[in-house]
Amino acid sequence: MKLIAILFLCTTLLTSLAQGDQQQEFDCNDEDLLKAVDAALRKYNDGSKSGNQFVLYRITEGNKTVDHDVFYSVKYEVKEGNCSIQSGKPWKECDYKESEQAATGECTATIGKRHRDRDFSVTTQTCHVTPAKGPVVTSEYECHGCVHPIITVPHDLDPVLRHAIQHFNNHNNHSHLFAVKEVKRAQRQMVSGWNYEVTYLIEQTNCSKENFKVLTPECKALPNGDTGECTDLAYMDPRLRIASFSQKCEVLSEKDFLFSPNLNCRGCPKEIPVDHPDLKGALSHSITKLNAENNATFYFKIDIVHRATSQLVAGTKYFIEFTARETTCSKESTKELTESCETNKLGKTLRCTADVYEVLWENKIETTVKCQSPGKKQLKPCVFKGQPRDAGAEPTSES
Ligand SMILES: *[C@@H]1O[C@H](CO)[C@@H](O)[C@H](O)[C@H]1NC(C)=O
Ligand SMILES: *[C@@H]1O[C@H](CO)[C@@H](O)[C@H](O)[C@H]1NC(C)=O
Ligand SMILES: *[C@@H]1O[C@H](CO)[C@@H](O)[C@H](O)[C@H]1NC(C)=O
Ligand SMILES: *[C@@H]1O[C@H](CO)[C@@H](O)[C@H](O)[C@H]1NC(C)=O
Ligand SMILES: *[C@@H]1O[C@H](CO)[C@@H](O)[C@H](O)[C@H]1NC(C)=O
Repeated sequence: MKLIAILFLCTTLLTSLAQGDQQQEFDCNDEDLLKAVDAALRKYNDGSKSGNQFVLYRITEGNKTVDHDVFYSVKYEVKEGNCSIQSGKPWKECDYKESEQAATGECTATIGKRHRDRDFSVTTQTCHVTPAKGPVVTSEYECHGCVHPIITVPHDLDPVLRHAIQHFNNHNNHSHLFAVKEVKRAQRQMVSGWNYEVTYLIEQTNCSKENFKVLTPECKALPNGDTGECTDLAYMDPRLRIASFSQKCEVLSEKDFLFSPNLNCRGCPKEIPVDHPDLKGALSHSITKLNAENNATFYFKIDIVHRATSQLVAGTKYFIEFTARETTCSKESTKELTESCETNKLGKTLRCTADVYEVLWENKIETTVKCQSPGKKQLKPCVFKGQPRDAGAEPTSES
């Protein structure tokens, strides 16, 4: 049973919060990557008062993270161009300077695009430039007003999370207190103070509200308790007080129907244990479908089932989230995936969702499976050959 609690105290920042990560197919010709690097290099050139502009030489490394905002973290190399800063020309129209007299440089930058913006803005950038003669010059740039991805959960998020879980516990009718289980992602933006956006998982503890006013260290997660996911926006003012806060949580539960508009809804999707025997058939169809639609050399096998729901319609609809991992059985040597196919610890993994519609009495099964490579994407290096007149057209993949 899905329960939805939506609480908005402040809506200044919020438009819509996408649920879940979205990974996108990426290749070296990704126009967005070039736009991101272009923004970074223009930022660097704009920061110089005199001398020549720098021109992109190659992009050596990059990662792309997509939540509902896009972030690139890239390393790129530049060479001194033959047009001056004063000329005001875009770097794309400049040629490289004669190589003996040209300075070279390497920059690392984080560039982000919020999902409602069209342009990239440079969040951080560090460039090391080596002049033709002389020592390396380092310049650093940080945009305090930009949205920063938070890669590891920093301590400054603690007060936000404390506030958040308290807010959650005070504003729902669940019999027990919930605790934060895991932070999925977070962003912060410096304004006058800080804006945070954080998505985290919550879990039911063994402390009932009857006996406990607030969470204490003795409140421990209940193994079979309810869980949920929240996305909050918080503004912390310069005196480090949380001045505005909004929360959107979704609680997944089988037992409590307190928020639910349809009490005991028989036709609603219901969470089922991931090892439920009824799920066997659906899982087997899902992996068969995945292997049939996938061009990998080796079969994939289901490694972990994260979550499953079933819904009684005319038949049963299953929705399953799972991770599949490559096995050591190649499709060439084995006709089908069997129990004896071992997972390859170093193999690829895929994060998948499956919809399986089973009508047992009609012997009918319809399965759709969608998979994505998990985590952030590592980008292939790109080299610019010759004069990069048009950054959208000239990169070639070097792999
Ligand atoms: C990309 O991700 C890898 C693995 O996490 C990391 O080692 C590397 O430094 C990242 N590169 C950039 C440019 O951020
Ligand atoms: C830069 O080099 C190109 C090609 O060699 C040349 O056409 C152009 O005039 C040069 N620009 C400047 C400002 O020297
Ligand atoms: C909790 O229950 C009370 C009384 O039944 C109700 O007025 C209130 O709206 C409920 N709160 C939520 C968040 O559902
Ligand atoms: C919750 O569980 C922990 C560990 O199992 C236990 O020490 C604690 O007393 C329990 N609290 C309640 C209120 O049952
Ligand atoms: C598998 O290969 C076929 C033919 O080469 C292609 O049409 C199809 O899109 C590929 N599927 C995937 C998932 O890459």
